[in-house]
Amino acid sequence: VPFRVLQVGLGPASHRWLQNANDHDDVQIVGVVDVNGSHAREVVQAYGFDWPIFTRLEDALEQAEPTLIFDTAPSDLHAEVTRTALGAGCDVFGEKPMVTDEDDALTIIDLAERTGRTFSVMQNRRHHPGVHALRAAVDAGRLGDVGMLAADYFRPGPDTGFRAELPHQLILDMGVHAFDTARALVGADPVRVSSVEFNPPGSWTRGDAALSCLVEFDSGAALSYRGSWASVGCMTTDQQSWRLAGTHGSALWDGEAAPQLETIRPNAASRYECDGDVLHLPAAEQLPPPTWGPGIPDLRLGTHHREGLAEMLAALRAGRPSATDCRANFPTVAAVFAAMRSARSRQFVDVARLPAAAAATTATTTPIGSNS
Ligand SMILES: NC(=O)c1ccc[n+]([C@@H]2O[C@H](COP(=O)([O-])OP(=O)(O)OC[C@H]3O[C@@H](n4cnc5c(N)ncnc54)[C@H](O)[C@@H]3O)[C@@H](O)[C@H]2O)c1
Repeated sequence: VPFRVLQVGLGPASHRWLQNANDHDDVQIVGVVDVNGSHAREVVQAYGFDWPIFTRLEDALEQAEPTLIFDTAPSDLHAEVTRTALGAGCDVFGEKPMVTDEDDALTIIDLAERTGRTFSVMQNRRHHPGVHALRAAVDAGRLGDVGMLAADYFRPGPDTGFRAELPHQLILDMGVHAFDTARALVGADPVRVSSVEFNPPGSWTRGDAALSCLVEFDSGAALSYRGSWASVGCMTTDQQSWRLAGTHGSALWDGEAAPQLETIRPNAASRYECDGDVLHLPAAEQLPPPTWGPGIPDLRLGTHHREGLAEMLAALRAGRPSATDCRANFPTVAAVFAAMRSARSRQFVDVARLPAAAAATTATTTPIGSNS
């Protein structure tokens, strides 16, 4: 089996990885790691597989001899897990955000370079068929020049776990999805960010639960991103609710259903007379029944981890960088760090760029990432 996989961190996110990995014949789970050994035993027993259980990453690396790590540990541990795994000669696929600190991002990209291993990041939301359909409409020029994007995220946030405790958590946890989706939609990279964070009255998180950001792109377009975790009712979808405004038309997308377009009517005397269109989305994939124990919900579809994992595995098999290789993903996470700095300084902040040598090895063969 080419890919001997060690899954690190067995929280809710890990199920989407374990379940989708199970559908790839060349992937074998050779062990799982969780600091909470009894939780890990419960998970493994429920699946009914015979995965060896470890509570320390170092022991697992030595004894299970993995070649590929799936890192679904809490975000603030991604740097440590990735450094250890790359250092042990493994490739790494990690959950977003890549890491939570810019210096860590740069040193880990350098480490991947020096070890010759790959480090790719799960940015599942870019694989939503709505994103592909909107990007195709943008590429076909249907909206003209897209000058502004708007994304809203209003949902009740977590009141426990790492997300409720850390500062800038909404930017780190959800902003990272919005910034990456915006990059995938317009095929441009962020250059400057201004961001305001605040904790609305009655908020139940310790860090700031709400934000308003402006992210400027190298195409001249900008994303206005608003969000609040101290928000109940009239929820947006988890994928955010989107508007793209262009010189020939606009698009609205609720993050789930087929996006709607209104574009200037051909030969219309006025630029305000528009025709409506609804973009076609493919029917959801039909999967064979799961092969694991009863009582575990089938989570293979829905969040597009399936497509994200397939793209990263296809890239690794082909020996090419994935669309979300750490270098290609750096502008996404660098915009997150710029937003965090801006929220602290209340100034515009330039988005960091990779040193030229590292950026030169970035090769995103397709703008969003295909699975072939
Ligand atoms: N892409 C997405 O749509 C998406 C969705 C949810 C979560 N995530 C990401 O996945 C990651 C995990 O999220 P979660 O909600 O499952 O987190 P969680 O905190 O609920 O679970 C994390 C698990 O890791 C274990 N753990 C803690 N420290 C560890 C260590 N040192 N070594 C091994 N295991 C350790 C914990 O015991 C727990 O079982 C986060 O980075 C999050 O941002 C991504």
